[in-house]
Amino acid sequence: MKTSKVALVLMVLAMIATLVSCAPAPAPAPAQAPAAAATTAPAQAAAPAKAMKTYKDLTVGYAQLGSESEWRNANTASVKETAEQLGVKLIFSDAQQKQENQIAAIRSFIQQKVDVIGLPPVVTTGWETVLKEAKDAGIPVILVDRRADVPEDMYVSYIGSDFVEEGRNAGRTMAKIVNEKANIVELVGTVGSAPATDRQKGFLEITKDMPDMKMLDSQSGDFTRDGGKKVMEAFLKKYGKDITAVYAHNDDMAIGAIQAIEEAGMKPGTDIKIVSVDAVRGAFEAMIAGKLNATIECNPLLGPQFYEMALKAVNGETLPKWVPSKEGIYLPDNAKEILPTRKY
Ligand code: AHR
Repeated sequence: MKTSKVALVLMVLAMIATLVSCAPAPAPAPAQAPAAAATTAPAQAAAPAKAMKTYKDLTVGYAQLGSESEWRNANTASVKETAEQLGVKLIFSDAQQKQENQIAAIRSFIQQKVDVIGLPPVVTTGWETVLKEAKDAGIPVILVDRRADVPEDMYVSYIGSDFVEEGRNAGRTMAKIVNEKANIVELVGTVGSAPATDRQKGFLEITKDMPDMKMLDSQSGDFTRDGGKKVMEAFLKKYGKDITAVYAHNDDMAIGAIQAIEEAGMKPGTDIKIVSVDAVRGAFEAMIAGKLNATIECNPLLGPQFYEMALKAVNGETLPKWVPSKEGIYLPDNAKEILPTRKY
């Protein structure tokens, strides 16, 4: 009897335990709503991301400065051919080496509402007004090949060479060729242009402490073959056989000087050593013929980098302020092997 009572109690306790465990769990306490959600309207659907532009969406204005040299023609070809390959719409203008024509071209690009403007400034000064007009119109300007003396917020990037270093390389190379002893005449590029100013600066930086490297004279041949020839003729008239070396700011002027030296009955490359800048095919031909002693490279094939930067600019990317070109130094020793590989 006592046993069955205990069993009964145990049974009742087990039933109660079962009932408790089957009872629904208490509802969780409601999560605290964030304070702001209680007072603001439901969140707006996220704005659709702005569509990124592609090369085919781009209209680009290129205010080329002229066609004064082999280098410039290679630069023009690179800008035109790359536009075609990428499907960029290019509006191209040739300013015939006149700043006012470049400024007029930029104004016309602004009116046509191009997406980006490319500008190789013929000289460094006088660009503030027109570049401000482009900036106010919301059109990014990329300086190509040559820099301009304007505040950095007036352009989005500069793609081009270190002209001072090119001048230093010319100075070092010339000093080696003439064993630090020469009477030099200098054929200067366009007066007021970045390459003329900087190539002169770099060359003098290297040669100024070499007492036997004497600069007899400096005159502008405007980066043209004809200009180089005329200036060299005048130098030869004035200094005759005293001249032992020519430093030309570009290959075209050096080629003009070679003609003048030959016409004066001397041997270019032997009687008068010549170092120039650009490394165009004409310079390799002159080196192979023994008439030019060295050329310092300046790369004109800037089309691909230009459009890459243009696309990034219209898609709102911040660009590096300077994209420097990679360049070498060429001597006659291997000019024959290298010439077939040159693209300009
Ligand atoms: O700005 C680059 C210079 O311009 C090249 O060295 C010269 O050949 C050209 O005309």
